[in-house]
Amino acid sequence: MKVLEERIRQEGLILSDKVLKVDSFLNHQVDTELALAIGQEFKRIFGHLPITKILTVEASGIQFAMAAGIALGVPFIYAKKRKAVTLSEAVYSAPVHSFTRQEDYQISISQKYLGPADKVLVVDDFLATGAALVGLADIIEEAGAELLGVGCVIEKSFQEGRGLLEQRGINVHSLARIASMVPGEIHFIDNDST
Ligand code: G4P
Ligand code: NA
Ligand code: NA
Repeated sequence: MKVLEERIRQEGLILSDKVLKVDSFLNHQVDTELALAIGQEFKRIFGHLPITKILTVEASGIQFAMAAGIALGVPFIYAKKRKAVTLSEAVYSAPVHSFTRQEDYQISISQKYLGPADKVLVVDDFLATGAALVGLADIIEEAGAELLGVGCVIEKSFQEGRGLLEQRGINVHSLARIASMVPGEIHFIDNDST
């Protein structure tokens, strides 16, 4: 998505060869027009599929799941994160290991909102290690729902996330794919996107 790549070049802060800060327009302050355009791009890519629900993880996947939900005319659900494993209501849950924070947490969603009739598109802001997305894929499996695809806004292609998802046969599309970066320089993989 060219407009997204341009924005990353202009405003992205490359903090190291691994961490890109996009707080000014994607995941702290949010450019709402860009977020809605991202939703339309997910519709262009996944709109031919019979999606019934979008799934993401709180917090910074929410605005893109909402944008995709608006574009596709379906609801979205965000999985909640918690440290404790004590869960009161009936939920599906999966453990996730955060590599950046070196800690484990649980993601969960209520069993009321996902079931065998659902065909799911997963949306997130970053595809990095893929740990949270693998957790979501586990939850979808547990619910007996079908995972039709994963759409990420920014993929750091030099990390292992895409490989982990593809190993499970998951259809992955990212709108901006970073091949490599160092402060002052960023290289994107050519994408067949708009
Ligand atoms: P993940 O791949 O499962 O997300 O795990 P990882 O430990 O790699 O990443 C931890 C958090 O950092 C995730 O957010 C992820 O989206 C985010 N992240 C990974 N790489 C980058 C990056 O280069 N830049 C920025 N800005 N974020 C990155 P999270 O823990 O799910 O939290 P939230 O921010 O969504 O609340
Ligand atoms: Na996220
Ligand atoms: Na994040």
